[in-house]
Amino acid sequence: MQHTDIYDILRDEAYVGQKVTVCGWVRTSRDSKNVSFLEVNDGTSLKHIQVVLDKSRFADPAPFLKLGTAVRVTGQAVKGMVQNSVEINAEEVAVLGECPGEYPLQKKRHTLEYLRTIPHLRVRANTFNAIFRVRSVVSFAIHEYFQKNRFTYVHTPILTGSDCEGAGEVFKVTTIGYSDQYKSEEAYYADDFFGQPAGLSVSGQLEGEVAAMGLGKIYTFGPSFRAENSNTPRHVAEFWHVEPEVAFADLHDIIGVAEEMIKYIIQAVLERCGDELDFFERFFEKGLREKLTNVAENDFQVLDYTEAIQLLKKADVDFTYPVEWGCDLQTEHERYITERVFNKPVFVTNYPKDIKAFYMKQNPDGKTVAATDLLVPGVGEIIGCSEREADLGKLLAAMEARGMDQAAYADYLDLRRFGSVPHSGFGLGLERMIMYVTGAANIRDVQLYPRTVGSIR
Ligand code: 4AD
Ligand code: MG
Repeated sequence: MQHTDIYDILRDEAYVGQKVTVCGWVRTSRDSKNVSFLEVNDGTSLKHIQVVLDKSRFADPAPFLKLGTAVRVTGQAVKGMVQNSVEINAEEVAVLGECPGEYPLQKKRHTLEYLRTIPHLRVRANTFNAIFRVRSVVSFAIHEYFQKNRFTYVHTPILTGSDCEGAGEVFKVTTIGYSDQYKSEEAYYADDFFGQPAGLSVSGQLEGEVAAMGLGKIYTFGPSFRAENSNTPRHVAEFWHVEPEVAFADLHDIIGVAEEMIKYIIQAVLERCGDELDFFERFFEKGLREKLTNVAENDFQVLDYTEAIQLLKKADVDFTYPVEWGCDLQTEHERYITERVFNKPVFVTNYPKDIKAFYMKQNPDGKTVAATDLLVPGVGEIIGCSEREADLGKLLAAMEARGMDQAAYADYLDLRRFGSVPHSGFGLGLERMIMYVTGAANIRDVQLYPRTVGSIR
């Protein structure tokens, strides 16, 4: 269907005086004695284009004025009343799709909670127009950053026979529905598609390590799945996961990669999403642009876990969860550190080994591992990162201490047998990154169809 993107017409003076055709949905409309106005949006830009219908030409504009109606408009592009704006004096309007009055998106500002009940329609609201464009720009910037730095993009499997984190949050994959014909679990799995338990991957890390041991620097970027029973504004069952893995890199090196990547993403959003940032600044987070500029221009904080515990113990705050060396940091602790103490991104490093995964490199102190979480104000943890244990003996001991089945990790252990090298990697949750750069407070608002406990559509 021949037409021009509204984005182009709004941005290029050269269209003024030209005859143009645009397509889109009517977002608002106004009727007066001699003229009617439509605000039309085609999704290519956050701003709508105004269409003016002269009643001497359009005697009955009513069918075009209904909110949500899909239209094709042809007319002259002219300078609008507002500075730098362009509008269209309509010569021809065609209704592509009618939209009756019960259309769930009305002119008023709907709450985000209400919009979550209509995921199939909310993409036509400004908030989601802005969020999904930023999500696209961020995704592209992630690829750009890694490609420019010669990381190879690998696709790790989504169906897996192992639980990467050993945390048991795996969704099971089976082709056998409910049945009482099996006498034992073994008999059941023997009959199933893979002949053994299988699930959806919680992380591409283990396979990412395999790839990095030949390709040197790799990244994955795809969906991960977690059957966590956490009904919070930061958890979903299906999220997009960016996982670089770098050979010949220690914790310090990988922290450098993480910081540089975050800054690259933020710079891209600052440069490419001006209208969207104005919108979020107005409706989500005051000072957002200044926050992002500060992050892009300043060093992140690096803070040892042990020092973090000391800071939390000194804090004049009544935490719900008490703080002791050895405890996992709760959201309230993370927020205190990153929002109240530093007010910038903080890498908390060297966590106690007992609260972290088996694959993390054990520090010489025998108590901690070379791991770090990146915490940011407003969201909390956005990155989980570590140097990997490259020593076969130490890795086996860590697995044994956790009662893990070595046979299930045979490939992973082989990497430590054949030319093992120091290597490190991290996982960035794309949705949490989007929350951080947009100021969105709930992860359910940065995905097309969020999946959470008790909710799938
Ligand atoms: O900290 P996590 O669990 O680390 C890993 O999975 C490592 N294997 C990564 C690696 O070293 N390659 O998860 C990494 C990040 C978290 O910091 C968070 O941003 C995101 O993934 N994440 C989630 N995002 C949304 N919903 C969930 N349920 C998430 N679980 C983790
Ligand atoms: Mg983590």
